[in-house]
Amino acid sequence: MSINLSNAMLSPTYRGKVRDVYDLGDKLVLVSSDRLSAFDVVFNDTIPGKGKILNTISAHWFSLLKNIPNHFISTSPQDMPPQFSSKEFLERSILVRKTKRIDFECVVRAFLMGSAYKEYTANQTVAGERLPSKLPKGAKLPHPLFTPAVKNDTGHDENISFALMQSSIPQSADTLRDLSLKIFSFAANKLKEKGILLLDTKFEFGILDEKILLIDEVFTPDSSRFVEIEEYEKAMRDGGEIPTMDKQIIRDYVESIGWNKIAPAPRLPKEIIEKTVLQYKKIEKIILGIKN
Ligand SMILES: Nc1ncnc2c1ncn2[C@@H]1O[C@H](COP(=O)(O)OP(=O)(O)O)[C@@H](O)[C@H]1O
Ligand SMILES: [Mg+2]
Repeated sequence: MSINLSNAMLSPTYRGKVRDVYDLGDKLVLVSSDRLSAFDVVFNDTIPGKGKILNTISAHWFSLLKNIPNHFISTSPQDMPPQFSSKEFLERSILVRKTKRIDFECVVRAFLMGSAYKEYTANQTVAGERLPSKLPKGAKLPHPLFTPAVKNDTGHDENISFALMQSSIPQSADTLRDLSLKIFSFAANKLKEKGILLLDTKFEFGILDEKILLIDEVFTPDSSRFVEIEEYEKAMRDGGEIPTMDKQIIRDYVESIGWNKIAPAPRLPKEIIEKTVLQYKKIEKIILGIKN
């Protein structure tokens, strides 16, 4: 594969909260850093090894999602532009097709967690859909729900109803919902075989040559909540927190010290960082064991 590098720079074209994006014209190199964001704020502390884990997990899922049109090109060193040939870059980088991003987060939830639980306690709805009463936090939903949010690069993403999404992008909203539910159930089934529940996840899509492609990252612990089935059942039975394998430890810690979720983020104790690293490593091992 030949890539024209005349315009490529070694400083990123765009810095997301976690990934650095290098624009190569019609392609992008996404480089996952060890940066941590929670409640949409980037922390000063990093999670050592996180970028490599995210990149490996996402590339693995893209290799399983061949039937879903997506942005993945390669993670092979021979396909990467020479600027990315150091080990440091290679293990964190993915070469993808550049698309025009659709500015909605396509969230699917099979369980009542996070902002969906907050909406439920306020209105007994999730993404505007009325649910049975008295569901506890973490309850399995009657069926997986598509709960979109507007993507906001400088602030908090905003949950919206599906009806609002339909009115803003009438040509593609139904397709995005159907695709999201389909991809979610594919992964949820694979994970279940490994003893893992996929509680919820977030997808992004983009347009290239008038076609919708799955872009960004897929089924990583930054975009999804995973929990061991046994741990889930224990927590629901005993009333404890559901120990998801992601940055929940950090969310719990910063809430416990009363942080107002406005930058700057607080510094993190060493043991909180170490526990988080273990969670990311644990789910990586499980996902990499999933075969086609
Ligand atoms: N194939 C693609 N085409 C265009 N943009 C993409 C593609 N894949 C990912 N992106 C964008 O690249 C950025 C990745 O960086 P990230 O750290 O995830 O940012 P964010 O702060 O928005 O979460 C995001 O803005 C994402 O929407
Ligand atoms: Mg992102």
